[in-house]
Amino acid sequence: MAYIYKAAVIGGGTMGGGIAQVVSFSGLPVVIKDINQDAVDKGIAAAREVYESRVKKGKMTQNEMDQKMALISGTTSYDGFDDVDIVIEAVSERMDIKKAVFAELDKVCPETCIFASNTSALSISELGAATKRADKVIGMHFFNPAPVMKLVEIIPGLETSEDTINDVMQFTTELRKTPIRVEECAGFLVNRLLMPFFNEAVYAAQEGAATLEEIDAAVTGFGMPMGSFFLADMLGIDIAREVQHILYEEYGPRMAPAILIEKMFQAKRFGRKSGVGFYDHGSGPDAEEFVKNAIAETQAETGIKGTSFSFDRLILPMINEAAYAVQEKVASPNDVDLAMIMGSGMKKGDTYIGPLQLADEMGLDVVLEKMEALHKELGVERFRPAPLLKRKVKAGHLGKKTGRGFKEYSLETV
Ligand code: 3HC
Repeated sequence: MAYIYKAAVIGGGTMGGGIAQVVSFSGLPVVIKDINQDAVDKGIAAAREVYESRVKKGKMTQNEMDQKMALISGTTSYDGFDDVDIVIEAVSERMDIKKAVFAELDKVCPETCIFASNTSALSISELGAATKRADKVIGMHFFNPAPVMKLVEIIPGLETSEDTINDVMQFTTELRKTPIRVEECAGFLVNRLLMPFFNEAVYAAQEGAATLEEIDAAVTGFGMPMGSFFLADMLGIDIAREVQHILYEEYGPRMAPAILIEKMFQAKRFGRKSGVGFYDHGSGPDAEEFVKNAIAETQAETGIKGTSFSFDRLILPMINEAAYAVQEKVASPNDVDLAMIMGSGMKKGDTYIGPLQLADEMGLDVVLEKMEALHKELGVERFRPAPLLKRKVKAGHLGKKTGRGFKEYSLETV
Protein backbone atom coordinates (compact mmCIF):
# COMPACT_ATOMS: atom_id res chain seq x y z
CA MET A 1 0.00 0.00 0.00
CA ALA A 2 1.49 3.30 -1.10
CA TYR A 3 0.46 6.18 1.12
CA ILE A 4 -0.83 9.30 -0.48
CA TYR A 5 0.43 12.46 1.21
CA LYS A 6 0.01 14.98 -1.59
CA ALA A 7 -2.26 15.22 -4.61
CA ALA A 8 -2.40 17.34 -7.74
CA VAL A 9 -5.40 18.17 -9.90
CA ILE A 10 -4.90 19.13 -13.54
CA GLY A 11 -7.58 21.50 -14.79
CA GLY A 12 -9.29 24.32 -12.91
CA GLY A 13 -12.76 23.74 -14.38
CA THR A 14 -15.90 22.88 -12.42
CA MET A 15 -14.79 19.30 -11.84
CA GLY A 16 -11.14 20.20 -11.12
CA GLY A 17 -12.12 22.83 -8.53
CA GLY A 18 -14.67 20.47 -6.97
CA ILE A 19 -12.18 17.61 -6.76
CA ALA A 20 -9.56 19.90 -5.17
CA GLN A 21 -12.16 20.86 -2.53
CA VAL A 22 -12.88 17.18 -1.84
CA VAL A 23 -9.16 16.37 -1.46
CA SER A 24 -8.46 19.35 0.82
CA PHE A 25 -11.54 18.54 2.90
CA SER A 26 -9.97 15.16 3.69
CA GLY A 27 -6.91 17.00 5.05
CA LEU A 28 -4.46 16.43 2.19
CA PRO A 29 -2.50 19.15 0.40
CA VAL A 30 -3.51 19.57 -3.23
CA VAL A 31 -2.11 21.67 -6.04
CA ILE A 32 -4.32 22.78 -8.94
CA LYS A 33 -2.50 23.18 -12.25
CA ASP A 34 -3.88 24.77 -15.39
CA ILE A 35 -2.35 26.51 -18.39
CA ASN A 36 -3.26 30.03 -17.32
CA GLN A 37 -3.63 31.80 -14.00
CA ASP A 38 -7.24 32.72 -14.67
CA ALA A 39 -8.24 29.04 -14.90
CA VAL A 40 -6.23 28.21 -11.76
CA ASP A 41 -7.95 31.07 -9.89
CA LYS A 42 -11.37 29.84 -11.03
CA GLY A 43 -10.63 26.34 -9.70
CA ILE A 44 -9.53 27.74 -6.33
CA ALA A 45 -12.57 30.06 -6.24
CA ALA A 46 -14.89 27.09 -6.89
CA ALA A 47 -13.41 25.25 -3.90
CA ARG A 48 -13.63 28.41 -1.76
CA GLU A 49 -17.32 28.81 -2.64
CA VAL A 50 -18.09 25.34 -1.32
CA TYR A 51 -16.33 26.11 1.97
CA GLU A 52 -18.00 29.52 2.25
CA SER A 53 -21.39 27.90 1.89
CA ARG A 54 -20.50 25.46 4.71
CA VAL A 55 -19.40 28.33 6.95
CA LYS A 56 -22.60 30.23 6.18
CA LYS A 57 -24.67 27.18 7.12
CA GLY A 58 -22.72 26.79 10.39
CA LYS A 59 -21.22 23.47 9.23
CA MET A 60 -17.66 24.70 9.80
CA THR A 61 -15.96 27.72 11.34
CA GLN A 62 -14.09 30.40 9.40
CA ASN A 63 -10.91 29.17 11.05
CA GLU A 64 -11.52 25.60 9.84
CA MET A 65 -12.23 26.91 6.37
CA ASP A 66 -8.97 28.88 6.36
CA GLN A 67 -7.07 25.74 7.36
CA LYS A 68 -8.66 23.74 4.53
CA MET A 69 -8.09 26.50 1.98
CA ALA A 70 -4.41 26.71 3.03
CA LEU A 71 -4.08 23.12 1.76
CA ILE A 72 -4.96 24.24 -1.80
CA SER A 73 -2.32 25.89 -3.94
CA GLY A 74 -2.29 26.79 -7.62
CA THR A 75 0.31 26.77 -10.37
CA THR A 76 0.67 27.21 -14.10
CA SER A 77 3.94 25.25 -14.14
CA TYR A 78 4.87 21.82 -12.83
CA ASP A 79 6.64 23.27 -9.78
CA GLY A 80 5.86 21.12 -6.78
CA PHE A 81 5.07 18.02 -8.83
CA ASP A 82 8.30 16.24 -7.85
CA ASP A 83 6.72 14.89 -4.64
CA VAL A 84 3.08 14.27 -5.58
CA ASP A 85 1.71 10.79 -4.96
CA ILE A 86 -1.36 11.02 -7.16
CA VAL A 87 -2.40 13.29 -10.01
CA ILE A 88 -6.08 13.55 -10.92
CA GLU A 89 -6.46 14.83 -14.45
CA ALA A 90 -9.65 16.78 -15.19
CA VAL A 91 -8.90 18.62 -18.44
CA SER A 92 -11.08 18.85 -21.57
CA GLU A 93 -12.63 15.62 -22.76
CA ARG A 94 -10.20 15.21 -25.68
CA MET A 95 -7.91 12.25 -26.01
CA ASP A 96 -5.13 14.26 -27.70
CA ILE A 97 -5.10 16.86 -24.90
CA LYS A 98 -5.19 14.23 -22.17
CA LYS A 99 -2.37 12.25 -23.79
CA ALA A 100 -0.22 15.38 -24.04
CA VAL A 101 -0.84 16.13 -20.35
CA PHE A 102 0.06 12.58 -19.34
CA ALA A 103 3.27 12.69 -21.41
CA GLU A 104 4.31 15.88 -19.59
CA LEU A 105 3.40 14.41 -16.22
CA ASP A 106 5.51 11.34 -16.97
CA LYS A 107 8.57 13.59 -17.10
CA VAL A 108 7.97 15.63 -13.93
CA CYS A 109 6.30 13.27 -11.44
CA PRO A 110 8.03 10.64 -9.31
CA GLU A 111 8.07 7.12 -10.78
CA THR A 112 5.76 5.95 -8.02
CA CYS A 113 3.10 8.57 -8.74
CA ILE A 114 -0.36 7.32 -9.77
CA PHE A 115 -2.04 9.01 -12.73
CA ALA A 116 -5.81 9.07 -12.37
CA SER A 117 -8.12 10.46 -15.03
CA ASN A 118 -11.53 11.94 -14.34
CA THR A 119 -12.55 11.26 -17.93
CA SER A 120 -16.29 10.71 -18.43
CA ALA A 121 -15.97 8.09 -21.10
CA LEU A 122 -12.56 7.93 -22.81
CA SER A 123 -10.41 4.80 -22.77
CA ILE A 124 -8.18 4.39 -19.72
CA SER A 125 -6.14 1.72 -21.54
CA GLU A 126 -5.41 4.17 -24.36
CA LEU A 127 -4.37 6.84 -21.87
CA GLY A 128 -2.16 4.34 -20.04
CA ALA A 129 -0.47 3.36 -23.29
CA ALA A 130 0.54 7.00 -23.80
CA THR A 131 2.68 6.86 -20.64
CA LYS A 132 5.67 4.88 -19.42
CA ARG A 133 3.62 3.73 -16.42
CA ALA A 134 0.48 2.03 -17.74
CA ASP A 135 0.35 -0.02 -14.51
CA LYS A 136 -0.19 3.21 -12.56
CA VAL A 137 -2.85 4.77 -14.81
CA ILE A 138 -6.47 4.44 -13.72
CA GLY A 139 -9.88 6.05 -14.14
CA MET A 140 -11.20 7.96 -11.14
CA HIS A 141 -14.54 9.30 -12.29
CA PHE A 142 -16.23 11.83 -10.01
CA PHE A 143 -19.80 13.05 -10.45
CA ASN A 144 -21.10 16.58 -10.69
CA PRO A 145 -21.28 18.33 -8.25
CA ALA A 146 -18.11 16.60 -7.04
CA PRO A 147 -18.28 17.96 -3.48
CA VAL A 148 -21.74 16.40 -3.01
CA MET A 149 -22.04 13.22 -5.06
CA LYS A 150 -20.77 10.20 -3.11
CA LEU A 151 -19.70 7.96 -5.99
CA VAL A 152 -16.29 7.65 -7.60
CA GLU A 153 -16.08 5.03 -10.36
CA ILE A 154 -12.69 3.32 -10.29
CA ILE A 155 -11.80 2.03 -13.74
CA PRO A 156 -8.68 -0.04 -14.30
CA GLY A 157 -7.23 -0.11 -17.81
CA LEU A 158 -5.81 -3.26 -19.40
CA GLU A 159 -2.45 -2.84 -17.69
CA THR A 160 -3.41 -1.19 -14.39
CA SER A 161 -1.90 -3.17 -11.51
CA GLU A 162 -3.92 -4.55 -8.58
CA ASP A 163 -1.71 -2.43 -6.28
CA THR A 164 -2.78 0.73 -8.08
CA ILE A 165 -6.44 -0.33 -7.92
CA ASN A 166 -6.20 -1.04 -4.18
CA ASP A 167 -4.37 2.22 -3.47
CA VAL A 168 -6.95 4.28 -5.35
CA MET A 169 -9.90 2.45 -3.75
CA GLN A 170 -8.37 3.19 -0.32
CA PHE A 171 -7.60 6.81 -1.24
CA THR A 172 -11.19 7.30 -2.44
CA THR A 173 -12.52 6.01 0.88
CA GLU A 174 -10.23 8.49 2.64
CA LEU A 175 -11.86 11.23 0.57
CA ARG A 176 -15.16 10.09 2.18
CA LYS A 177 -16.47 8.88 -1.14
CA THR A 178 -17.77 5.47 -2.19
CA PRO A 179 -15.45 3.78 -4.71
CA ILE A 180 -17.03 1.27 -7.08
CA ARG A 181 -14.83 -0.76 -9.38
CA VAL A 182 -16.12 -0.72 -12.93
CA GLU A 183 -14.61 -2.78 -15.74
CA GLU A 184 -13.56 -0.61 -18.64
CA CYS A 185 -16.22 0.06 -21.25
CA ALA A 186 -17.42 3.17 -23.08
CA GLY A 187 -19.24 5.49 -20.67
CA PHE A 188 -18.22 3.25 -17.75
CA LEU A 189 -21.34 2.61 -15.69
CA VAL A 190 -23.33 5.67 -14.63
CA ASN A 191 -22.96 7.69 -17.84
CA ARG A 192 -23.68 4.57 -19.87
CA LEU A 193 -27.00 4.18 -18.02
CA LEU A 194 -27.89 7.83 -17.48
CA MET A 195 -27.39 8.92 -21.09
CA PRO A 196 -30.01 6.59 -22.65
CA PHE A 197 -32.46 7.90 -20.01
CA PHE A 198 -31.62 11.51 -20.97
CA ASN A 199 -31.50 10.76 -24.70
CA GLU A 200 -35.01 9.28 -24.59
CA ALA A 201 -36.24 12.42 -22.82
CA VAL A 202 -34.84 14.45 -25.73
CA TYR A 203 -36.45 12.15 -28.31
CA ALA A 204 -39.77 12.47 -26.48
CA ALA A 205 -39.45 16.27 -26.52
CA GLN A 206 -38.37 16.56 -30.15
CA GLU A 207 -41.21 14.28 -31.23
CA GLY A 208 -43.71 16.41 -29.33
CA ALA A 209 -44.64 13.54 -27.03
CA ALA A 210 -44.47 16.00 -24.11
CA THR A 211 -42.93 19.39 -23.30
CA LEU A 212 -39.60 19.78 -21.51
CA GLU A 213 -41.46 20.85 -18.37
CA GLU A 214 -43.83 17.87 -18.53
CA ILE A 215 -40.92 15.47 -18.98
CA ASP A 216 -38.91 17.02 -16.15
CA ALA A 217 -42.02 16.90 -13.93
CA ALA A 218 -42.46 13.18 -14.72
CA VAL A 219 -38.80 12.56 -13.84
CA THR A 220 -38.87 14.43 -10.51
CA GLY A 221 -42.38 13.11 -9.86
CA PHE A 222 -40.94 9.60 -10.00
CA GLY A 223 -38.35 10.62 -7.39
CA MET A 224 -35.20 11.59 -9.33
CA PRO A 225 -33.48 14.60 -7.73
CA MET A 226 -33.49 16.68 -10.93
CA GLY A 227 -35.41 16.73 -14.20
CA SER A 228 -33.43 15.43 -17.21
CA PHE A 229 -33.24 18.78 -19.02
CA PHE A 230 -32.42 20.63 -15.82
CA LEU A 231 -29.61 18.14 -15.15
CA ALA A 232 -28.27 18.43 -18.72
CA ASP A 233 -28.13 22.21 -18.31
CA MET A 234 -26.15 21.72 -15.09
CA LEU A 235 -23.71 19.19 -16.59
CA GLY A 236 -23.27 21.06 -19.86
CA ILE A 237 -24.99 20.09 -23.10
CA ASP A 238 -21.57 20.05 -24.81
CA ILE A 239 -20.38 17.42 -22.33
CA ALA A 240 -23.56 15.35 -22.61
CA ARG A 241 -23.21 15.44 -26.41
CA GLU A 242 -19.57 14.36 -26.24
CA VAL A 243 -20.42 11.40 -24.01
CA GLN A 244 -23.33 10.46 -26.26
CA HIS A 245 -21.05 10.35 -29.29
CA ILE A 246 -18.60 8.08 -27.50
CA LEU A 247 -21.49 5.77 -26.55
CA TYR A 248 -22.93 5.81 -30.07
CA GLU A 249 -19.59 4.97 -31.61
CA GLU A 250 -19.15 2.00 -29.27
CA TYR A 251 -22.66 0.58 -28.90
CA GLY A 252 -24.26 1.59 -32.19
CA PRO A 253 -27.89 2.43 -33.04
CA ARG A 254 -29.40 1.95 -29.59
CA MET A 255 -27.40 5.02 -28.51
CA ALA A 256 -28.18 7.16 -31.58
CA PRO A 257 -28.24 10.74 -30.20
CA ALA A 258 -31.43 12.80 -30.59
CA ILE A 259 -30.99 15.59 -33.16
CA LEU A 260 -32.24 18.30 -30.80
CA ILE A 261 -29.05 17.97 -28.73
CA GLU A 262 -26.94 18.69 -31.81
CA LYS A 263 -29.03 21.77 -32.55
CA MET A 264 -28.50 23.03 -28.99
CA PHE A 265 -24.78 22.38 -29.30
CA GLN A 266 -24.41 24.08 -32.68
CA ALA A 267 -26.18 27.16 -31.27
CA LYS A 268 -23.68 27.10 -28.34
CA ARG A 269 -26.55 26.72 -25.89
CA PHE A 270 -24.55 24.64 -23.43
CA GLY A 271 -26.70 25.15 -20.35
CA ARG A 272 -25.96 26.95 -17.12
CA LYS A 273 -22.35 27.76 -17.99
CA SER A 274 -23.33 29.64 -21.17
CA GLY A 275 -26.33 31.34 -19.57
CA VAL A 276 -28.86 29.43 -21.68
CA GLY A 277 -29.62 25.83 -22.49
CA PHE A 278 -32.91 23.98 -22.49
CA TYR A 279 -33.90 26.61 -19.95
CA ASP A 280 -32.84 30.21 -19.37
CA HIS A 281 -29.99 30.74 -16.93
CA GLY A 282 -29.59 34.47 -17.05
CA SER A 283 -28.44 35.27 -20.57
CA GLY A 284 -31.66 35.93 -22.39
CA PRO A 285 -35.32 34.99 -22.17
CA ASP A 286 -35.50 33.06 -25.46
CA ALA A 287 -34.75 29.48 -24.40
CA GLU A 288 -38.38 28.43 -24.81
CA GLU A 289 -38.65 30.05 -28.24
CA PHE A 290 -35.39 28.51 -29.46
CA VAL A 291 -36.32 25.02 -28.26
CA LYS A 292 -39.80 25.33 -29.82
CA ASN A 293 -38.33 26.29 -33.21
CA ALA A 294 -35.62 23.61 -33.01
CA ILE A 295 -38.30 21.00 -32.27
CA ALA A 296 -40.42 22.16 -35.24
CA GLU A 297 -37.32 22.01 -37.48
CA THR A 298 -36.43 18.52 -36.20
CA GLN A 299 -39.95 17.25 -36.84
CA ALA A 300 -39.84 18.66 -40.37
CA GLU A 301 -36.47 16.96 -40.96
CA THR A 302 -37.34 13.57 -39.46
CA GLY A 303 -41.05 13.45 -40.18
CA ILE A 304 -41.53 11.97 -36.69
CA LYS A 305 -43.99 13.61 -34.33
CA GLY A 306 -46.84 12.91 -31.97
CA THR A 307 -45.34 9.79 -30.36
CA SER A 308 -46.60 8.79 -26.92
CA PHE A 309 -45.06 9.71 -23.60
CA SER A 310 -44.76 7.81 -20.34
CA PHE A 311 -42.10 7.61 -17.65
CA ASP A 312 -41.59 3.97 -18.76
CA ARG A 313 -40.34 5.28 -22.09
CA LEU A 314 -37.45 6.98 -20.24
CA ILE A 315 -36.59 4.39 -17.62
CA LEU A 316 -36.73 1.27 -19.83
CA PRO A 317 -33.64 2.18 -21.90
CA MET A 318 -31.77 2.69 -18.62
CA ILE A 319 -32.87 -0.70 -17.28
CA ASN A 320 -32.00 -2.34 -20.61
CA GLU A 321 -28.51 -0.83 -20.59
CA ALA A 322 -28.06 -1.99 -17.00
CA ALA A 323 -28.88 -5.51 -18.24
CA TYR A 324 -26.19 -5.17 -20.93
CA ALA A 325 -23.68 -3.98 -18.30
CA VAL A 326 -24.41 -7.00 -16.10
CA GLN A 327 -24.28 -9.33 -19.11
CA GLU A 328 -20.84 -7.92 -19.96
CA LYS A 329 -19.72 -8.19 -16.31
CA VAL A 330 -18.93 -4.48 -16.12
CA ALA A 331 -20.18 -4.58 -12.53
CA SER A 332 -22.35 -6.80 -10.32
CA PRO A 333 -26.11 -6.08 -10.11
CA ASN A 334 -25.64 -4.69 -6.58
CA ASP A 335 -22.85 -2.38 -7.71
CA VAL A 336 -24.89 -1.21 -10.72
CA ASP A 337 -27.70 -0.13 -8.39
CA LEU A 338 -25.37 1.36 -5.78
CA ALA A 339 -23.52 3.33 -8.46
CA MET A 340 -26.75 4.83 -9.81
CA ILE A 341 -27.90 5.75 -6.31
CA MET A 342 -24.55 7.29 -5.27
CA GLY A 343 -23.76 8.83 -8.65
CA SER A 344 -27.14 10.22 -9.66
CA GLY A 345 -29.24 10.20 -6.48
CA MET A 346 -31.76 7.82 -8.13
CA LYS A 347 -34.94 7.42 -6.09
CA LYS A 348 -38.49 6.19 -6.43
CA GLY A 349 -40.60 8.38 -4.19
CA ASP A 350 -38.52 8.78 -1.04
CA THR A 351 -36.68 5.49 -1.43
CA TYR A 352 -33.27 5.17 -3.03
CA ILE A 353 -33.41 2.51 -5.72
CA GLY A 354 -31.26 1.40 -8.64
CA PRO A 355 -32.52 0.34 -12.08
CA LEU A 356 -32.12 -3.41 -11.53
CA GLN A 357 -33.96 -3.45 -8.22
CA LEU A 358 -36.64 -1.37 -9.91
CA ALA A 359 -36.86 -3.88 -12.78
CA ASP A 360 -37.10 -6.76 -10.30
CA GLU A 361 -39.94 -4.96 -8.54
CA MET A 362 -41.76 -4.25 -11.81
CA GLY A 363 -41.32 -7.89 -12.87
CA LEU A 364 -38.86 -8.72 -15.65
CA ASP A 365 -41.68 -10.18 -17.75
CA VAL A 366 -43.48 -6.83 -17.49
CA VAL A 367 -40.28 -4.94 -18.35
CA LEU A 368 -39.77 -7.17 -21.39
CA GLU A 369 -43.37 -6.77 -22.51
CA LYS A 370 -43.17 -2.99 -22.24
CA MET A 371 -39.86 -2.92 -24.12
CA GLU A 372 -41.33 -5.01 -26.91
CA ALA A 373 -44.42 -2.83 -27.11
CA LEU A 374 -42.31 0.34 -27.41
CA HIS A 375 -40.00 -1.38 -29.90
CA LYS A 376 -43.06 -2.11 -32.03
CA GLU A 377 -44.60 1.34 -31.59
CA LEU A 378 -41.46 3.43 -32.19
CA GLY A 379 -39.60 0.96 -34.41
CA VAL A 380 -36.18 1.90 -33.05
CA GLU A 381 -33.21 -0.07 -31.75
CA ARG A 382 -33.33 1.87 -28.48
CA PHE A 383 -36.08 -0.51 -27.34
CA ARG A 384 -34.67 -3.82 -28.53
CA PRO A 385 -34.49 -5.88 -25.32
CA ALA A 386 -31.04 -6.93 -24.05
CA PRO A 387 -30.36 -10.68 -24.47
CA LEU A 388 -29.87 -11.17 -20.71
CA LEU A 389 -33.32 -9.71 -19.99
CA LYS A 390 -34.93 -12.15 -22.43
CA ARG A 391 -32.93 -15.07 -21.06
CA LYS A 392 -34.01 -14.31 -17.51
CA VAL A 393 -37.66 -14.17 -18.47
CA LYS A 394 -37.40 -17.46 -20.39
CA ALA A 395 -35.83 -19.07 -17.30
CA GLY A 396 -38.64 -17.80 -15.09
CA HIS A 397 -36.37 -15.41 -13.19
CA LEU A 398 -39.00 -12.71 -13.13
CA GLY A 399 -37.82 -10.59 -10.22
CA LYS A 400 -39.10 -10.23 -6.68
CA LYS A 401 -42.24 -12.25 -7.30
CA THR A 402 -40.28 -15.40 -8.15
CA GLY A 403 -37.45 -14.87 -5.66
CA ARG A 404 -34.88 -14.01 -8.30
CA GLY A 405 -34.41 -11.66 -11.17
CA PHE A 406 -31.26 -9.60 -11.43
CA LYS A 407 -30.94 -10.09 -7.67
CA GLU A 408 -32.07 -12.77 -5.23
CA TYR A 409 -34.95 -12.34 -2.77
CA SER A 410 -36.25 -14.43 0.06
CA LEU A 411 -39.78 -15.39 -1.00
CA GLU A 412 -41.01 -15.25 2.61
CA THR A 413 -40.29 -11.52 2.76
CA VAL A 414 -41.74 -10.73 -0.65
N1 3HC B 1 -21.41 22.44 -5.56
C1 3HC B 1 -21.24 22.16 -4.26
N2 3HC B 1 -22.23 21.84 -3.43
C2 3HC B 1 -23.48 21.84 -3.92
C3 3HC B 1 -23.76 22.13 -5.26
C4 3HC B 1 -22.66 22.44 -6.10
N3 3HC B 1 -22.80 22.69 -7.40
N4 3HC B 1 -25.08 22.03 -5.47
C5 3HC B 1 -25.62 21.70 -4.29
N5 3HC B 1 -24.67 21.57 -3.37
C6 3HC B 1 -24.83 21.20 -1.97
C7 3HC B 1 -25.64 22.19 -1.20
O1 3HC B 1 -24.84 23.22 -0.67
C8 3HC B 1 -26.23 21.32 -0.09
O2 3HC B 1 -25.24 21.14 0.91
P1 3HC B 1 -25.65 20.86 2.45
O3 3HC B 1 -26.34 19.53 2.48
O4 3HC B 1 -24.34 20.84 3.15
O5 3HC B 1 -26.55 21.97 2.86
C9 3HC B 1 -26.44 19.96 -0.77
O6 3HC B 1 -25.59 19.98 -1.92
C10 3HC B 1 -27.87 19.74 -1.19
O7 3HC B 1 -28.21 20.83 -2.05
P2 3HC B 1 -29.64 21.50 -2.15
O8 3HC B 1 -30.39 21.25 -0.87
O9 3HC B 1 -29.49 22.88 -2.62
O10 3HC B 1 -30.33 20.81 -3.36
P3 3HC B 1 -30.74 19.33 -3.61
O11 3HC B 1 -31.24 18.66 -2.39
O12 3HC B 1 -31.60 19.38 -4.81
O13 3HC B 1 -29.39 18.59 -4.04
C11 3HC B 1 -28.02 17.80 -5.76
C12 3HC B 1 -28.61 19.02 -5.09
C13 3HC B 1 -27.19 17.01 -4.74
C14 3HC B 1 -27.13 18.28 -6.88
C15 3HC B 1 -29.20 16.88 -6.28
O14 3HC B 1 -30.10 17.65 -7.01
C16 3HC B 1 -28.72 15.74 -7.12
O15 3HC B 1 -28.30 14.71 -6.61
N6 3HC B 1 -28.84 15.87 -8.49
C17 3HC B 1 -28.43 14.86 -9.44
C18 3HC B 1 -27.04 15.15 -9.88
C19 3HC B 1 -26.48 14.09 -10.79
O16 3HC B 1 -27.18 13.26 -11.34
N7 3HC B 1 -25.15 14.10 -10.98
C20 3HC B 1 -24.47 13.16 -11.82
C21 3HC B 1 -24.48 13.60 -13.22
S1 3HC B 1 -23.52 12.59 -14.30
C22 3HC B 1 -21.93 13.14 -14.13
O17 3HC B 1 -21.63 14.04 -13.39
C23 3HC B 1 -20.91 12.43 -14.94
C24 3HC B 1 -20.16 13.31 -15.86
O18 3HC B 1 -19.11 12.55 -16.42
C25 3HC B 1 -21.01 13.88 -16.98
